Amino acid sequence: MKSSENSSPLKEKINIPFGTITITDKAKELIMQALESKRISCGRLVHQFEQKFASLYGVREAVAVSSGTDAVALALAVLYDYGAERGDEIIVPALSFVATGNAVLQAGFTPVFVDIERETLNINPAFIENAITGRTRAIMPVHLMGKPVDMDPVMSIARKHELFVIEDAAEAYGATYKGKQVGTIGDLSAFSLYVAHIITTGEGGIVLTNDENKAEILRSLRSHGRACKCETCVLNLGAGYCAKRFNNPAKTDIRFVFERVGFSAKMNELEAAIGIGCLDYYDDILAKRRKNFYAMSAIIRKYGKYMYTITEGEHSKIGPHALPIILKEPLTFSRDAFVDYLEKSGVDSRNLFQSIPTQAAGFRFLGHKLGEFPEAEYVADHGLHIGVHQDINDEQIRYLDKVIAGFVEKW
Ligand SMILES: Cc1ncc(COP(=O)(O)O)c(C=O)c1O
Repeated sequence: MKSSENSSPLKEKINIPFGTITITDKAKELIMQALESKRISCGRLVHQFEQKFASLYGVREAVAVSSGTDAVALALAVLYDYGAERGDEIIVPALSFVATGNAVLQAGFTPVFVDIERETLNINPAFIENAITGRTRAIMPVHLMGKPVDMDPVMSIARKHELFVIEDAAEAYGATYKGKQVGTIGDLSAFSLYVAHIITTGEGGIVLTNDENKAEILRSLRSHGRACKCETCVLNLGAGYCAKRFNNPAKTDIRFVFERVGFSAKMNELEAAIGIGCLDYYDDILAKRRKNFYAMSAIIRKYGKYMYTITEGEHSKIGPHALPIILKEPLTFSRDAFVDYLEKSGVDSRNLFQSIPTQAAGFRFLGHKLGEFPEAEYVADHGLHIGVHQDINDEQIRYLDKVIAGFVEKW
């Protein structure tokens, strides 16, 4: 891990990369089998991955798709089968990875942003009711950095106003809220399977629900809105005769009947193979990340005069996605100066996203003005996050402590 080229302000330099990926021998074997069978588009392995994922979460249905963004967009698009209309509103936190906002627009809805709490980084439940209008269809809390949203008030507001709740759980593997796994509380939930995440397929996403009807709609949506959802087609089992193909009132080829506006968002077999291999090691990966998260959070607490991170409440456990670090007021130094020092020292980091409505250029058309979401803007301007992944070891964690000490002693 020691870097040969030392631009570090410290004498030694140890790299701490942001992410990693676990590709197991089983995954490699399954990939070879899929390649040799020449059946690599969404089929048996995707189905197997979905079943394993659903059983990990204790839910009835899991539908794998091509990205976490698609998982969010498809979960939202299900609402058209439940009376939603294009342009209806979805309540989301102002601070999130931009994909949260993109997915709302891609699904044909209008995002209505609500400010966050600086301490939890999550949507402030106290602001939600004010944002509800006659066109609101759903609340979509985001469990940012694996910190569970306070779901009790969110669920009770949703039930009172007859709204759906879709959890953006992209970053929340391993998080729990009052004994429930995050991602099993709302009507639907969406996870990302991108490389930086605790379960990964390289690129990918997955939607969870306990409702078979919603799962069937999701399977149609990921395949262009197709009417045909039988196993022969969904599992891509080959060219065998399908009794259901013409067995419909119009006696027409159901494979080419499109019931709804769909997406092209299927996961492929090679991605599912990586995911199946990863699931076998889920407990180990989670335990290692959790240990790293706790050790690294303790370091941040040592420098509590300058910075803070998220903490666990009495009823919630953080999913160890990454370690957010936010500078505290009164500010002693800038986030960018800190990030530059980390980078020179070999510690890879990412900014802590943006206030989507006021800082992401693509959302300017909604007409929001800087200053409307002060907490989201504060965290976006003064926050960053670093990896806690399974390949980070104790030596790297001790090094992080030295790097931060070296930086803060200059001020
Ligand atoms: C909160 C949140 N939502 C959605 C996504 C989208 O996931 P993907 O990058 O797999 O499209 C991400 C990505 O990490 C995310 O952090």
